[in-house]
Amino acid sequence: MINFKSIIAEELTKVTNITNIEEYIEIPTNKEMGDYSLPCFKLAKELKKAPQAIASEIKEKLNIDKELISKIDVVNGYLNFYVNTVAITKSVFEEIEIKKEQYGSDEIGKGKNIVIDYSSPNIAKPFHIGHLRSTVIGSALYKIYKFLGYNVIGINHLGDYGTQFGKLIEGYKRWGNEYNINENPIDELTKIYVRINDLCKEDENVLEECRNNFKKLEDGDQYCTEIWERFRELSLKEFQRIYDLLDVHFDSLNGEAFYSDKMDEIVDILDKSGKLVESEGAKVINLDEKNMPPCLIKKSNDSTTYATRDLAAILYRARTYDFDKALYVTSYEQILHFKQVFEVAKLLGIDEKYTDNLIHVPFGMVQLKTGKMSTREGNIVKLEDLLNEAIDRARKIIEEKNPNLENKEEVAKNVGIGAVIFNDLYNSRIKDEIFDWDIMLNFNGETGPYIQYMFVRTKSILEKVEKLPLVSEIDFNLLKDKHSVELISEIYKFNEVLKQSAEKNEPYIISRYLINISQLFSSFYNENKIICEDEKLQNARIYLTYCTNIVLKTGANLLGIKMPNKM
Ligand code: ARG
Repeated sequence: MINFKSIIAEELTKVTNITNIEEYIEIPTNKEMGDYSLPCFKLAKELKKAPQAIASEIKEKLNIDKELISKIDVVNGYLNFYVNTVAITKSVFEEIEIKKEQYGSDEIGKGKNIVIDYSSPNIAKPFHIGHLRSTVIGSALYKIYKFLGYNVIGINHLGDYGTQFGKLIEGYKRWGNEYNINENPIDELTKIYVRINDLCKEDENVLEECRNNFKKLEDGDQYCTEIWERFRELSLKEFQRIYDLLDVHFDSLNGEAFYSDKMDEIVDILDKSGKLVESEGAKVINLDEKNMPPCLIKKSNDSTTYATRDLAAILYRARTYDFDKALYVTSYEQILHFKQVFEVAKLLGIDEKYTDNLIHVPFGMVQLKTGKMSTREGNIVKLEDLLNEAIDRARKIIEEKNPNLENKEEVAKNVGIGAVIFNDLYNSRIKDEIFDWDIMLNFNGETGPYIQYMFVRTKSILEKVEKLPLVSEIDFNLLKDKHSVELISEIYKFNEVLKQSAEKNEPYIISRYLINISQLFSSFYNENKIICEDEKLQNARIYLTYCTNIVLKTGANLLGIKMPNKM
């Protein structure tokens, strides 16, 4: 595709001798001010002249192909560039004709490895709505990076280790046969856990037994290991139902337990660094200098911690995946944890290219609009129930709007789940998310169903023509009206939007973009008759509809949203 920005920059460099001038070029928010703009006050110091004079002078000397940039204006010290609409249309259409569903993809990530640690629920505990956010954000990032050419490794760092398993094993030993853990593993294991915990509070001896169990588990005792494996397997089976609903995948399920035999090395390295100190019987790394509380490496009872396991994971991931970036997607409650761990990781003796590229990707909390959701046990919402409720609600809406629709079940699933995912990804991730069914399922709002609905429109228009026109036969001069031009220049930006989203680890940049495309398409469609008498005009408009269709589908799929063909 033609890179208008670089072309402008190249010509500007010839005139000004400023080599990095591309960095100064902006994209005006107001379309009236052109497609690109150079704020000349930024050059005033360097060139020792008033911005307006600089702008006029540069304009005089510039020699840019009119077929590419049709107009250059000087306004208030800005130099505004207007891209030739025929050139941009031709460029976008030709690119989409060749790349189709791959439009927007890139090779910037070629040869680079990205590790993404996401979802990571704790076994034998409910998969809660915070884990849903981690799952949805992580999985979107996974797809976005992949589309940009990176080699991505998705890791579900399961919380399958820790002293609580000593307790669970004890509870199971005592009352296992009273609970049907095959049927409802997480509910039943949670009950066992609550009961044994209560008992521990009453009876020190029981607590001691639990500690022993964990010790035995660490030492590879057969009985304890077998039960633990069963808990893990049953929990995973239950989590899998949620992953299936969301269509989320992982390359590795190496959770915390995987590192149980890899922590001695960590303690050893830290010890040798001279920084590991005793504190009240525990072993810690002091982080006073960094204004953080100490990082606990070994508790006074000699057991390791969540942080130690994360350190072992860093070492393992550096060695195994040789990562260029390692992302951790969790709620902002863990900001301090990762700051500490990333600081201590510098003592592990691995290359800085690893420790400089450990990135925590935090997100905000989910606020439930109470009274509207079936909650069990106070505020703990069972996630599977919630996703099924989304599907039920979508089914009801479809039943009202379009009772004769084929494949109703599949559409309800795509719309319901799509609504939840989109809602999760609609704001900058650090913002708290409001979970409100009416908002996220509003077909006319800034929602998943809205972009699906626009996609379905493009699809039904495209079905009206027998076959897609060839780009070589299209007269681009027929798409010069405001609505077409705006839609085309937005489609042109797709790859840039994806790169920005990856750079900031912010899928919402894509969600907002898809809303923009949908709204622009809606205006284009309302103002222009697409299927019409004039064959040439129809062909041009059909092709633009096709381009919209491609971008909506590819963009939504990158977020994890599936597009129905009808709804
Ligand atoms: N299991 C943790 C939790 O539920 C999240 C783990 C995140 N990943 C990590 N490497 N620490 O809070």
